[in-house]
Amino acid sequence: MRAETLIILIMATYGDGEPTDDAAEFCQWLTTKSSDNAVVEQLLQALPFAVFALGSKKYEHFCAAGKLAYQCMIDLGARPVVERGDGNDDEDMDADFEAWKASLLSAIDASGLLTTRAEGEGAGNSAHADTHETLSAYDVIIPDEDTHVRTKVAELFHNFGNGTRRYVPFLAVVLTVKELHAPSAERSCIHVELDITGSNIMYTAGDHLGVFSKNGQDTVERAAKALGCSLGMAFTLVQPVQAPVHLPQPFPGPVTVADALAWHVDLLSPVSKPALQGLLALANGEDRGKLERLLNGSAEQYKAWHKQSRCLLEVLEEFPTIQPPLGAFFASVAQKLQPRFYSISSSPAADPNVVSLTVAVVQGFTPTGRLHKGLSSTYLKDKLPGTRVPVFLRQSSFRLPSDTMVPLLMVGAGTGLAPYRGFLQERKVFLDRDLFFGCRNRNQDFIYKSELEDFQEAGALTELHVAFSREGKEKEYVQHQLLRQAQTVAHMLSTAKDARGVAYVCGDAKHMAQDVAQTAVSIVMTAEGCSEEIVRARFASLSKERRIQKDVWC
Ligand code: 2AM
Repeated sequence: MRAETLIILIMATYGDGEPTDDAAEFCQWLTTKSSDNAVVEQLLQALPFAVFALGSKKYEHFCAAGKLAYQCMIDLGARPVVERGDGNDDEDMDADFEAWKASLLSAIDASGLLTTRAEGEGAGNSAHADTHETLSAYDVIIPDEDTHVRTKVAELFHNFGNGTRRYVPFLAVVLTVKELHAPSAERSCIHVELDITGSNIMYTAGDHLGVFSKNGQDTVERAAKALGCSLGMAFTLVQPVQAPVHLPQPFPGPVTVADALAWHVDLLSPVSKPALQGLLALANGEDRGKLERLLNGSAEQYKAWHKQSRCLLEVLEEFPTIQPPLGAFFASVAQKLQPRFYSISSSPAADPNVVSLTVAVVQGFTPTGRLHKGLSSTYLKDKLPGTRVPVFLRQSSFRLPSDTMVPLLMVGAGTGLAPYRGFLQERKVFLDRDLFFGCRNRNQDFIYKSELEDFQEAGALTELHVAFSREGKEKEYVQHQLLRQAQTVAHMLSTAKDARGVAYVCGDAKHMAQDVAQTAVSIVMTAEGCSEEIVRARFASLSKERRIQKDVWC
Protein backbone atom coordinates (compact mmCIF):
# COMPACT_ATOMS: atom_id res chain seq x y z
CA MET A 1 0.00 0.00 0.00
CA ARG A 2 1.33 3.40 -1.01
CA ALA A 3 1.23 6.17 1.57
CA GLU A 4 -0.75 9.17 0.31
CA THR A 5 -0.90 12.63 1.72
CA LEU A 6 -4.05 14.67 1.99
CA ILE A 7 -3.79 18.18 3.39
CA ILE A 8 -6.93 19.48 5.04
CA LEU A 9 -6.89 23.18 5.90
CA ILE A 10 -9.51 24.52 8.27
CA MET A 11 -9.13 28.27 7.92
CA ALA A 12 -10.82 30.64 10.35
CA THR A 13 -10.85 34.42 9.93
CA TYR A 14 -10.15 37.24 12.33
CA GLY A 15 -11.72 40.69 11.92
CA ASP A 16 -12.64 41.44 8.32
CA GLY A 17 -11.25 38.39 6.54
CA GLU A 18 -7.75 38.36 8.03
CA PRO A 19 -6.14 35.05 8.99
CA THR A 20 -5.94 34.13 12.66
CA ASP A 21 -2.63 34.56 14.50
CA ASP A 22 -1.79 30.89 14.07
CA ALA A 23 -2.39 31.03 10.32
CA ALA A 24 -0.88 34.44 9.57
CA GLU A 25 2.61 33.12 8.88
CA PHE A 26 1.27 30.30 6.73
CA CYS A 27 -0.83 32.73 4.63
CA GLN A 28 2.15 35.02 4.28
CA TRP A 29 4.23 32.05 3.15
CA LEU A 30 1.55 30.96 0.69
CA THR A 31 1.20 34.38 -0.89
CA THR A 32 4.91 34.94 -1.31
CA LYS A 33 5.55 31.39 -2.48
CA SER A 34 2.74 31.43 -5.00
CA SER A 35 4.56 34.06 -7.06
CA ASP A 36 7.72 32.07 -7.75
CA ASN A 37 9.32 29.14 -6.09
CA ALA A 38 10.08 26.12 -8.18
CA VAL A 39 10.92 23.88 -5.21
CA VAL A 40 7.64 24.52 -3.45
CA GLU A 41 5.71 24.12 -6.67
CA GLN A 42 7.34 20.78 -7.21
CA LEU A 43 6.56 19.77 -3.66
CA LEU A 44 2.92 20.75 -3.96
CA GLN A 45 2.44 19.55 -7.52
CA ALA A 46 -0.81 17.61 -7.68
CA LEU A 47 -0.80 17.26 -3.90
CA PRO A 48 -4.39 16.51 -2.82
CA PHE A 49 -5.84 19.11 -0.46
CA ALA A 50 -9.14 20.42 0.85
CA VAL A 51 -10.10 23.72 2.48
CA PHE A 52 -12.94 24.56 4.80
CA ALA A 53 -13.17 28.29 5.45
CA LEU A 54 -14.87 29.79 8.49
CA GLY A 55 -16.31 33.28 8.61
CA SER A 56 -19.46 35.32 8.98
CA LYS A 57 -21.52 36.92 6.23
CA LYS A 58 -21.85 39.94 8.48
CA TYR A 59 -18.39 40.90 7.26
CA GLU A 60 -17.59 42.28 3.82
CA HIS A 61 -14.64 39.93 3.30
CA PHE A 62 -16.44 36.73 4.18
CA CYS A 63 -14.08 33.74 4.64
CA ALA A 64 -11.27 35.69 2.97
CA ALA A 65 -8.45 33.77 4.70
CA GLY A 66 -9.83 30.40 3.53
CA LYS A 67 -10.49 31.71 0.03
CA LEU A 68 -6.92 32.97 -0.16
CA ALA A 69 -5.44 29.68 1.03
CA TYR A 70 -7.56 27.69 -1.42
CA GLN A 71 -6.57 29.84 -4.39
CA CYS A 72 -2.88 29.95 -3.48
CA MET A 73 -2.73 26.17 -3.12
CA ILE A 74 -4.24 25.81 -6.60
CA ASP A 75 -1.83 28.39 -7.98
CA LEU A 76 1.02 26.39 -6.49
CA GLY A 77 -0.14 23.31 -8.34
CA ALA A 78 -1.89 21.43 -5.53
CA ARG A 79 -5.08 19.59 -6.42
CA PRO A 80 -8.35 20.21 -4.55
CA VAL A 81 -10.13 16.91 -3.92
CA VAL A 82 -13.31 18.80 -3.22
CA GLU A 83 -14.54 22.36 -3.69
CA ARG A 84 -13.81 24.76 -0.85
CA GLY A 85 -16.46 24.75 1.88
CA ASP A 86 -17.51 28.07 3.42
CA GLY A 87 -18.98 28.05 6.93
CA ASN A 88 -21.21 31.02 7.70
CA ASP A 89 -21.33 31.75 11.41
CA ASP A 90 -24.21 34.15 10.80
CA GLU A 91 -26.40 31.13 10.02
CA ASP A 92 -25.63 27.46 10.64
CA MET A 93 -21.89 26.88 10.48
CA ASP A 94 -22.23 23.28 11.70
CA ALA A 95 -24.59 22.40 8.84
CA ASP A 96 -22.17 23.99 6.35
CA PHE A 97 -19.37 21.91 7.81
CA GLU A 98 -21.38 18.68 7.78
CA ALA A 99 -22.28 19.19 4.12
CA TRP A 100 -18.66 19.88 3.18
CA LYS A 101 -17.40 16.96 5.26
CA ALA A 102 -19.82 14.62 3.51
CA SER A 103 -18.56 15.71 0.09
CA LEU A 104 -14.96 15.41 1.26
CA LEU A 105 -15.55 11.87 2.52
CA SER A 106 -17.22 10.89 -0.78
CA ALA A 107 -14.29 12.36 -2.69
CA ILE A 108 -11.86 10.44 -0.50
CA ASP A 109 -13.81 7.24 -1.04
CA ALA A 110 -13.96 7.77 -4.76
CA SER A 111 -10.25 8.57 -5.01
CA GLY A 112 -9.15 5.66 -2.87
CA LEU A 113 -6.91 8.02 -0.94
CA LEU A 114 -7.67 6.26 2.30
CA THR A 115 -7.78 2.54 2.01
CA THR A 116 -8.69 1.74 5.57
CA ARG A 117 -11.46 3.69 7.19
CA ALA A 118 -13.02 3.26 10.55
CA GLU A 119 -16.26 1.39 10.28
CA GLY A 120 -19.33 3.55 10.39
CA GLU A 121 -17.48 6.55 8.99
CA GLY A 122 -18.86 6.09 5.53
CA ALA A 123 -19.25 8.98 3.14
CA GLY A 124 -22.17 11.17 4.01
CA ASN A 125 -22.41 9.79 7.50
CA SER A 126 -22.58 12.98 9.55
CA ALA A 127 -20.91 12.87 12.91
CA HIS A 128 -23.86 11.71 14.93
CA ALA A 129 -22.73 10.94 18.44
CA ASP A 130 -25.91 9.01 18.98
CA THR A 131 -24.73 6.16 21.10
CA HIS A 132 -23.22 6.24 24.55
CA GLU A 133 -20.20 4.31 23.31
CA THR A 134 -18.99 6.91 20.80
CA LEU A 135 -18.81 9.84 23.22
CA SER A 136 -15.28 10.92 24.14
CA ALA A 137 -14.63 11.74 27.77
CA TYR A 138 -11.65 12.62 29.91
CA ASP A 139 -10.91 10.46 32.89
CA VAL A 140 -11.67 12.35 36.09
CA ILE A 141 -9.39 12.03 39.08
CA ILE A 142 -10.56 13.17 42.49
CA PRO A 143 -7.49 14.27 44.48
CA ASP A 144 -6.62 13.18 48.00
CA GLU A 145 -7.64 15.60 50.68
CA ASP A 146 -4.11 16.89 51.25
CA THR A 147 -3.39 17.61 47.56
CA HIS A 148 -2.94 21.27 46.71
CA VAL A 149 -5.95 22.56 44.78
CA ARG A 150 -5.24 25.34 42.29
CA THR A 151 -7.21 28.42 43.21
CA LYS A 152 -5.07 31.39 42.20
CA VAL A 153 -5.66 32.71 38.67
CA ALA A 154 -1.97 32.21 37.89
CA GLU A 155 -2.37 28.47 38.61
CA LEU A 156 -5.47 27.95 36.51
CA PHE A 157 -3.84 28.28 33.08
CA HIS A 158 -0.97 26.31 31.63
CA ASN A 159 1.46 29.13 31.09
CA PHE A 160 1.47 32.59 32.47
CA GLY A 161 4.19 34.77 31.06
CA ASN A 162 5.12 38.04 29.52
CA GLY A 163 1.86 38.73 27.66
CA THR A 164 3.42 38.79 24.20
CA ARG A 165 1.25 35.95 22.90
CA ARG A 166 -2.00 34.23 23.67
CA TYR A 167 -0.25 31.21 25.15
CA VAL A 168 1.66 33.30 27.70
CA PRO A 169 -0.88 35.77 29.12
CA PHE A 170 0.24 38.35 31.64
CA LEU A 171 -1.64 39.26 34.79
CA ALA A 172 -2.17 43.01 34.36
CA VAL A 173 -3.26 45.10 37.32
CA VAL A 174 -6.49 47.08 37.01
CA LEU A 175 -5.83 50.79 37.60
CA THR A 176 -9.18 52.31 36.72
CA VAL A 177 -12.64 51.32 35.56
CA LYS A 178 -14.60 54.43 34.69
CA GLU A 179 -18.06 54.89 33.16
CA LEU A 180 -17.91 56.98 29.99
CA HIS A 181 -21.63 57.41 29.37
CA ALA A 182 -23.79 59.90 31.24
CA PRO A 183 -25.90 58.50 34.09
CA SER A 184 -29.02 59.19 32.01
CA ALA A 185 -27.79 56.97 29.14
CA GLU A 186 -29.51 53.62 28.67
CA ARG A 187 -26.29 51.82 27.91
CA SER A 188 -22.89 51.64 29.54
CA CYS A 189 -19.42 52.03 28.10
CA ILE A 190 -16.34 51.84 30.27
CA HIS A 191 -12.79 53.08 30.14
CA VAL A 192 -10.44 50.49 31.64
CA GLU A 193 -6.80 51.19 32.43
CA LEU A 194 -4.42 48.31 33.01
CA ASP A 195 -0.89 48.41 34.35
CA ILE A 196 1.35 46.12 32.30
CA THR A 197 4.58 46.84 34.19
CA GLY A 198 6.69 43.68 34.28
CA SER A 199 5.24 42.27 31.07
CA ASN A 200 6.95 42.29 27.72
CA ILE A 201 4.00 43.89 26.00
CA MET A 202 5.43 46.54 23.70
CA TYR A 203 2.42 47.78 21.87
CA THR A 204 1.77 50.31 19.16
CA ALA A 205 -1.36 52.47 18.91
CA GLY A 206 -3.89 50.47 16.91
CA ASP A 207 -2.97 47.06 18.38
CA HIS A 208 -5.46 44.77 20.09
CA LEU A 209 -5.45 43.35 23.59
CA GLY A 210 -6.74 39.83 24.26
CA VAL A 211 -8.52 39.43 27.59
CA PHE A 212 -9.23 36.11 29.31
CA SER A 213 -12.48 36.70 31.18
CA LYS A 214 -14.50 34.47 33.41
CA ASN A 215 -18.14 33.58 33.87
CA GLY A 216 -19.92 35.38 36.69
CA GLN A 217 -20.88 33.72 39.96
CA ASP A 218 -24.54 33.35 39.06
CA THR A 219 -23.71 31.61 35.75
CA VAL A 220 -21.27 29.29 37.51
CA GLU A 221 -23.75 28.36 40.23
CA ARG A 222 -26.49 27.58 37.73
CA ALA A 223 -24.13 25.46 35.62
CA ALA A 224 -22.91 23.50 38.65
CA LYS A 225 -26.52 22.83 39.64
CA ALA A 226 -27.37 21.64 36.13
CA LEU A 227 -24.39 19.28 36.26
CA GLY A 228 -25.35 18.09 39.73
CA CYS A 229 -21.94 19.01 41.17
CA SER A 230 -20.97 20.94 44.25
CA LEU A 231 -18.99 24.09 43.58
CA GLY A 232 -16.17 23.18 45.92
CA MET A 233 -15.51 19.69 44.58
CA ALA A 234 -11.95 19.40 43.27
CA PHE A 235 -11.00 17.28 40.27
CA THR A 236 -8.38 16.81 37.58
CA LEU A 237 -9.06 15.89 33.97
CA VAL A 238 -6.63 13.50 32.31
CA GLN A 239 -6.44 11.85 28.90
CA PRO A 240 -8.60 8.73 28.99
CA VAL A 241 -6.72 5.46 29.28
CA GLN A 242 -8.82 3.89 26.56
CA ALA A 243 -9.12 6.80 24.21
CA PRO A 244 -10.78 6.41 20.83
CA VAL A 245 -9.18 9.71 19.85
CA HIS A 246 -6.60 11.92 21.50
CA LEU A 247 -8.46 14.75 23.20
CA PRO A 248 -7.07 18.29 23.51
CA GLN A 249 -4.84 18.84 26.51
CA PRO A 250 -7.19 19.52 29.43
CA PHE A 251 -6.77 22.50 31.75
CA PRO A 252 -4.43 21.94 34.69
CA GLY A 253 -5.83 20.48 37.89
CA PRO A 254 -6.85 19.83 40.49
CA VAL A 255 -9.32 22.69 40.37
CA THR A 256 -12.69 23.22 41.92
CA VAL A 257 -15.84 22.85 39.86
CA ALA A 258 -16.40 26.57 40.49
CA ASP A 259 -13.08 27.62 38.94
CA ALA A 260 -13.35 25.17 36.04
CA LEU A 261 -16.80 26.48 35.15
CA ALA A 262 -15.74 30.09 35.63
CA TRP A 263 -12.57 30.11 33.52
CA HIS A 264 -12.67 27.22 31.11
CA VAL A 265 -16.09 26.81 29.51
CA ASP A 266 -18.20 28.92 27.25
CA LEU A 267 -21.62 28.77 28.88
CA LEU A 268 -23.20 31.87 27.35
CA SER A 269 -22.50 31.83 23.60
CA PRO A 270 -25.05 30.24 21.28
CA VAL A 271 -24.73 26.48 21.71
CA SER A 272 -23.09 24.49 18.91
CA LYS A 273 -24.46 21.42 17.17
CA PRO A 274 -21.61 19.17 18.38
CA ALA A 275 -22.49 20.18 21.95
CA LEU A 276 -26.10 19.15 21.35
CA GLN A 277 -24.92 15.89 19.82
CA GLY A 278 -22.81 15.32 22.92
CA LEU A 279 -25.86 15.89 25.11
CA LEU A 280 -27.95 13.57 22.95
CA ALA A 281 -25.48 10.78 23.53
CA LEU A 282 -26.08 11.19 27.25
CA ALA A 283 -29.84 11.62 27.13
CA ASN A 284 -32.62 9.24 27.98
CA GLY A 285 -36.41 9.29 28.00
CA GLU A 286 -38.34 12.37 26.99
CA ASP A 287 -35.33 14.67 26.80
CA ARG A 288 -33.68 12.25 24.40
CA GLY A 289 -36.75 12.28 22.18
CA LYS A 290 -36.87 16.09 22.19
CA LEU A 291 -33.17 16.38 21.31
CA GLU A 292 -33.44 13.72 18.65
CA ARG A 293 -36.32 15.53 16.98
CA LEU A 294 -34.32 18.75 17.05
CA LEU A 295 -31.12 17.27 15.66
CA ASN A 296 -32.54 14.80 13.21
CA GLY A 297 -35.55 16.84 12.10
CA SER A 298 -35.65 19.25 9.20
CA ALA A 299 -32.80 21.67 8.58
CA GLU A 300 -35.30 24.58 8.61
CA GLN A 301 -36.55 23.62 12.04
CA TYR A 302 -33.04 23.44 13.42
CA LYS A 303 -32.13 26.77 11.81
CA ALA A 304 -35.14 28.44 13.41
CA TRP A 305 -34.20 26.97 16.81
CA HIS A 306 -30.56 27.98 16.36
CA LYS A 307 -31.55 31.57 15.48
CA GLN A 308 -32.97 31.93 18.99
CA SER A 309 -29.39 31.95 20.34
CA ARG A 310 -29.84 29.56 23.22
CA CYS A 311 -26.66 29.23 25.21
CA LEU A 312 -25.29 26.00 26.69
CA LEU A 313 -26.43 26.95 30.19
CA GLU A 314 -29.96 27.51 28.95
CA VAL A 315 -29.97 24.16 27.15
CA LEU A 316 -28.67 22.31 30.22
CA GLU A 317 -31.52 23.83 32.19
CA GLU A 318 -34.02 23.00 29.46
CA PHE A 319 -33.04 19.31 29.56
CA PRO A 320 -32.81 18.69 33.29
CA THR A 321 -32.60 14.91 33.04
CA ILE A 322 -29.29 15.15 31.20
CA GLN A 323 -26.53 15.57 33.74
CA PRO A 324 -23.29 15.10 31.83
CA PRO A 325 -20.49 13.57 33.92
CA LEU A 326 -17.61 16.07 34.16
CA GLY A 327 -15.27 14.06 31.91
CA ALA A 328 -17.83 13.92 29.09
CA PHE A 329 -18.96 17.50 29.68
CA PHE A 330 -15.50 18.98 29.17
CA ALA A 331 -14.57 16.66 26.31
CA SER A 332 -17.73 16.42 24.24
CA VAL A 333 -20.23 19.06 25.30
CA ALA A 334 -18.72 22.32 26.51
CA GLN A 335 -16.53 24.49 24.33
CA LYS A 336 -13.44 26.15 25.66
CA LEU A 337 -13.89 29.74 26.76
CA GLN A 338 -12.03 31.93 24.28
CA PRO A 339 -10.35 35.24 25.04
CA ARG A 340 -12.04 38.44 23.81
CA PHE A 341 -10.20 41.08 21.83
CA TYR A 342 -10.37 44.85 22.21
CA SER A 343 -8.81 47.66 20.19
CA ILE A 344 -6.40 49.40 22.52
CA SER A 345 -7.47 53.01 23.10
CA SER A 346 -4.14 54.40 24.26
CA SER A 347 -0.66 54.98 22.94
CA PRO A 348 2.57 53.95 24.65
CA ALA A 349 3.63 57.57 24.02
CA ALA A 350 1.28 58.54 26.87
CA ASP A 351 2.64 55.80 29.18
CA PRO A 352 4.31 52.60 27.95
CA ASN A 353 3.22 50.73 31.07
CA VAL A 354 -0.45 51.52 30.74
CA VAL A 355 -2.92 50.07 28.26
CA SER A 356 -6.42 51.42 28.08
CA LEU A 357 -9.53 49.77 26.64
CA THR A 358 -12.87 51.31 25.71
CA VAL A 359 -15.49 48.67 26.29
CA ALA A 360 -19.20 48.77 25.42
CA VAL A 361 -20.99 46.83 28.14
CA VAL A 362 -23.13 44.31 26.30
CA GLN A 363 -26.59 43.64 27.68
CA GLY A 364 -29.83 42.67 25.99
CA PHE A 365 -32.60 40.14 25.69
CA THR A 366 -32.26 37.14 23.39
CA PRO A 367 -35.24 35.87 21.34
CA THR A 368 -36.11 33.40 24.12
CA GLY A 369 -36.38 36.27 26.60
CA ARG A 370 -33.09 35.53 28.34
CA LEU A 371 -31.19 38.55 29.61
CA HIS A 372 -27.78 38.19 27.98
CA LYS A 373 -24.93 39.98 29.67
CA GLY A 374 -21.71 40.13 27.68
CA LEU A 375 -19.15 37.88 29.34
CA SER A 376 -16.05 39.98 29.05
CA SER A 377 -17.58 43.46 29.30
CA THR A 378 -19.46 42.45 32.47
CA TYR A 379 -16.30 40.90 33.91
CA LEU A 380 -14.28 44.06 33.22
CA LYS A 381 -16.99 46.39 34.48
CA ASP A 382 -17.04 44.61 37.83
CA LYS A 383 -13.24 44.60 38.27
CA LEU A 384 -11.91 46.55 41.20
CA PRO A 385 -8.68 48.57 41.09
CA GLY A 386 -5.75 46.47 42.25
CA THR A 387 -7.21 43.19 41.00
CA ARG A 388 -5.65 41.35 38.09
CA VAL A 389 -6.74 40.43 34.57
CA PRO A 390 -5.03 37.90 32.24
CA VAL A 391 -4.18 39.73 29.02
CA PHE A 392 -1.94 39.42 25.97
CA LEU A 393 -1.02 41.50 22.98
CA ARG A 394 -2.30 40.92 19.49
CA GLN A 395 -0.52 43.06 16.97
CA SER A 396 -2.75 44.53 14.33
CA SER A 397 -2.07 46.14 11.00
CA PHE A 398 -4.16 49.20 11.88
CA ARG A 399 -1.33 51.69 11.95
CA LEU A 400 -0.40 55.33 11.66
CA PRO A 401 1.93 56.00 8.74
CA SER A 402 5.47 56.94 9.74
CA ASP A 403 5.42 59.97 7.46
CA THR A 404 3.72 62.87 9.26
CA MET A 405 3.07 64.70 6.02
CA VAL A 406 0.37 62.17 5.15
CA PRO A 407 -3.20 63.43 5.71
CA LEU A 408 -5.44 61.14 7.76
CA LEU A 409 -9.17 60.50 7.61
CA MET A 410 -10.45 58.62 10.65
CA VAL A 411 -14.02 57.32 10.71
CA GLY A 412 -15.60 55.49 13.62
CA ALA A 413 -18.80 55.06 15.61
CA GLY A 414 -19.31 54.11 19.25
CA THR A 415 -16.30 52.26 20.64
CA GLY A 416 -14.85 52.49 17.12
CA LEU A 417 -13.32 55.68 18.49
CA ALA A 418 -10.90 53.59 20.57
CA PRO A 419 -7.81 53.31 18.33
CA TYR A 420 -8.07 56.95 17.25
CA ARG A 421 -7.66 58.03 20.86
CA GLY A 422 -4.40 56.07 20.76
CA PHE A 423 -3.42 57.69 17.45
CA LEU A 424 -4.08 61.15 18.85
CA GLN A 425 -2.01 60.44 21.96
CA GLU A 426 1.00 59.70 19.73
CA ARG A 427 1.77 63.43 19.89
CA LYS A 428 3.02 63.46 16.33
CA VAL A 429 1.58 66.38 14.44
CA PHE A 430 0.32 65.26 11.08
CA LEU A 431 -0.44 67.48 8.15
CA ASP A 432 -4.19 66.91 8.40
CA ARG A 433 -6.19 64.72 10.73
CA ASP A 434 -9.93 64.66 10.23
CA LEU A 435 -12.00 62.60 12.64
CA PHE A 436 -15.60 61.58 11.92
CA PHE A 437 -17.24 60.12 15.00
CA GLY A 438 -20.78 58.80 15.40
CA CYS A 439 -22.78 58.44 18.60
CA ARG A 440 -26.40 58.78 19.64
CA ASN A 441 -26.64 61.94 21.69
CA ARG A 442 -24.18 64.60 22.84
CA ASN A 443 -25.46 64.43 26.41
CA GLN A 444 -25.28 60.67 26.73
CA ASP A 445 -22.66 58.79 24.78
CA PHE A 446 -20.27 61.37 23.33
CA ILE A 447 -17.32 59.50 24.84
CA TYR A 448 -13.97 61.27 25.43
CA LYS A 449 -15.62 64.59 24.45
CA SER A 450 -13.34 66.87 26.44
CA GLU A 451 -10.22 64.92 25.41
CA LEU A 452 -11.16 65.28 21.74
CA GLU A 453 -11.72 68.99 22.20
CA ASP A 454 -8.32 69.26 23.87
CA PHE A 455 -6.68 67.40 20.98
CA GLN A 456 -8.33 69.83 18.60
CA GLU A 457 -7.16 72.82 20.58
CA ALA A 458 -3.63 71.46 20.73
CA GLY A 459 -3.62 71.01 16.94
CA ALA A 460 -3.35 67.21 17.08
CA LEU A 461 -6.78 67.03 15.47
CA THR A 462 -7.55 69.30 12.53
CA GLU A 463 -11.28 68.74 12.15
CA LEU A 464 -13.75 66.96 14.41
CA HIS A 465 -17.09 66.00 12.82
CA VAL A 466 -19.55 64.36 15.18
CA ALA A 467 -22.77 62.75 13.93
CA PHE A 468 -25.49 62.48 16.59
CA SER A 469 -27.89 59.84 15.37
CA ARG A 470 -30.68 60.32 17.88
CA GLU A 471 -30.95 64.06 18.33
CA GLY A 472 -33.02 65.07 15.35
CA LYS A 473 -35.97 63.55 13.53
CA GLU A 474 -33.72 62.03 10.89
CA LYS A 475 -30.77 59.73 11.61
CA GLU A 476 -27.48 61.51 11.27
CA TYR A 477 -24.61 59.08 10.69
CA VAL A 478 -20.90 59.48 9.99
CA GLN A 479 -21.47 58.78 6.29
CA HIS A 480 -23.84 61.78 6.08
CA GLN A 481 -21.06 63.96 7.44
CA LEU A 482 -18.62 62.39 4.99
CA LEU A 483 -20.95 63.34 2.14
CA ARG A 484 -20.85 66.93 3.35
CA GLN A 485 -17.05 66.81 3.24
CA ALA A 486 -16.98 65.03 -0.10
CA GLN A 487 -14.05 67.03 -1.39
CA THR A 488 -11.82 66.06 1.53
CA VAL A 489 -12.87 62.41 1.19
CA ALA A 490 -12.21 62.35 -2.57
CA HIS A 491 -8.83 63.96 -2.03
CA MET A 492 -7.92 61.40 0.63
CA LEU A 493 -8.83 58.51 -1.65
CA SER A 494 -7.32 59.96 -4.78
CA THR A 495 -4.74 58.05 -6.74
CA ALA A 496 -3.24 61.17 -8.32
CA LYS A 497 0.55 61.20 -8.39
CA ASP A 498 1.11 63.12 -5.16
CA ALA A 499 -1.91 61.67 -3.29
CA ARG A 500 -1.09 59.59 -0.21
CA GLY A 501 -3.86 60.12 2.34
CA VAL A 502 -4.78 57.21 4.61
CA ALA A 503 -8.44 56.48 5.41
CA TYR A 504 -9.36 54.46 8.50
CA VAL A 505 -12.67 52.87 9.48
CA CYS A 506 -13.28 51.40 12.90
CA GLY A 507 -16.36 49.93 14.56
CA ASP A 508 -19.39 47.93 13.47
CA ALA A 509 -18.62 45.72 10.46
CA LYS A 510 -22.11 44.76 9.42
CA HIS A 511 -23.76 48.14 8.96
CA MET A 512 -21.52 51.13 9.64
CA ALA A 513 -18.35 50.02 7.85
CA GLN A 514 -20.22 48.82 4.77
CA ASP A 515 -22.39 51.94 4.55
CA VAL A 516 -19.32 54.14 4.99
CA ALA A 517 -17.55 52.22 2.21
CA GLN A 518 -20.57 52.61 -0.07
CA THR A 519 -20.67 56.36 0.62
CA ALA A 520 -16.96 56.70 -0.08
CA VAL A 521 -17.42 54.81 -3.35
CA SER A 522 -20.23 57.18 -4.43
CA ILE A 523 -18.16 60.22 -3.46
CA VAL A 524 -15.21 59.12 -5.61
CA MET A 525 -17.53 58.08 -8.47
CA THR A 526 -19.05 61.57 -8.51
CA ALA A 527 -15.74 63.37 -8.04
CA GLU A 528 -13.96 61.51 -10.79
CA GLY A 529 -16.81 60.42 -13.02
CA CYS A 530 -15.91 56.75 -12.98
CA SER A 531 -17.91 53.58 -12.57
CA GLU A 532 -18.56 51.77 -9.30
CA GLU A 533 -16.54 48.82 -10.54
CA ILE A 534 -13.48 50.97 -11.15
CA VAL A 535 -13.75 52.69 -7.77
CA ARG A 536 -14.16 49.37 -5.93
CA ALA A 537 -11.10 47.99 -7.69
CA ARG A 538 -9.21 51.14 -6.69
CA PHE A 539 -10.29 50.69 -3.07
CA ALA A 540 -9.05 47.11 -3.17
CA SER A 541 -5.61 48.26 -4.28
CA LEU A 542 -5.62 51.14 -1.76
CA SER A 543 -6.31 48.52 0.93
CA LYS A 544 -3.34 46.50 -0.25
CA GLU A 545 -1.16 49.60 -0.06
CA ARG A 546 -2.52 50.24 3.46
CA ARG A 547 -4.02 53.55 2.37
CA ILE A 548 -7.39 52.17 3.44
CA GLN A 549 -7.35 50.39 6.80
CA LYS A 550 -10.16 48.72 8.71
CA ASP A 551 -10.56 47.56 12.27
CA VAL A 552 -14.12 46.26 12.35
CA TRP A 553 -16.18 43.73 14.28
CA CYS A 554 -19.75 42.57 14.85
P1 2AM B 1 -28.32 54.45 15.98
O1 2AM B 1 -28.12 53.46 17.06
O2 2AM B 1 -29.07 55.67 16.44
O3 2AM B 1 -28.96 53.88 14.74
C1 2AM B 1 -22.73 54.07 17.52
O4 2AM B 1 -23.38 52.86 17.73
C2 2AM B 1 -23.46 54.91 16.54
O5 2AM B 1 -23.46 54.29 15.25
C3 2AM B 1 -24.90 55.15 16.92
O6 2AM B 1 -25.12 56.53 16.87
C4 2AM B 1 -25.67 54.40 15.87
O7 2AM B 1 -26.90 55.00 15.54
C5 2AM B 1 -24.74 54.55 14.69
N1 2AM B 1 -25.09 53.69 13.57
C6 2AM B 1 -25.98 52.66 13.51
N2 2AM B 1 -26.05 52.13 12.28
C7 2AM B 1 -25.19 52.82 11.52
C8 2AM B 1 -24.82 52.75 10.15
N3 2AM B 1 -25.36 51.85 9.33
N4 2AM B 1 -23.91 53.64 9.72
C9 2AM B 1 -23.37 54.55 10.53
N5 2AM B 1 -23.67 54.67 11.83
C10 2AM B 1 -24.58 53.82 12.33
